[in-house]
Amino acid sequence: MAEKVEQNELPTCPWYRLCDVEKHRCCTSAWIVINNKVYDVTAFLAEHPGGEEILLEQAGCDCTKIFDSIGHSLDAHLVAEKYVIGELHPVSDLFILTCNRMEQQ
Ligand code: HEM
Repeated sequence: MAEKVEQNELPTCPWYRLCDVEKHRCCTSAWIVINNKVYDVTAFLAEHPGGEEILLEQAGCDCTKIFDSIGHSLDAHLVAEKYVIGELHPVSDLFILTCNRMEQQ
């Protein structure tokens, strides 16, 4: 019975929208999105083997394609897990924008 209640609980992982992520694009706060997960890589900037600059350039963005195209190792994927802070909200910013516009009409 207790197991059933647990299954029905809402996810505890915070949800962010791309517009939230876009606000974090500097060396004191750098967030990125990879495969719908949100990462705060601020503390990792100086440690990134590919360089701080290249990671900072991607801050505030969904960099799934570029991350995958570089062919990061399994180790890199494991390291990334340490910096997950949440997930991208399943309802996109574009959908919300469209709804807001429709409400205004
Ligand atoms: C949480 C995010 C990231 C983590 C944990 C991470 C980690 C790593 C690690 C461990 C390496 C060493 C090579 C390997 O093991 O694959 C690496 C290399 C590299 N990374 Fe990342 N990375 C991240 C995001 C990115 C992003 C967004 C870019 C793209 C702009 C990028 C570009 C590179 C490049 C160019 C290299 C050098 C590849 C080479 O020398 O062959 N990384 N990264």
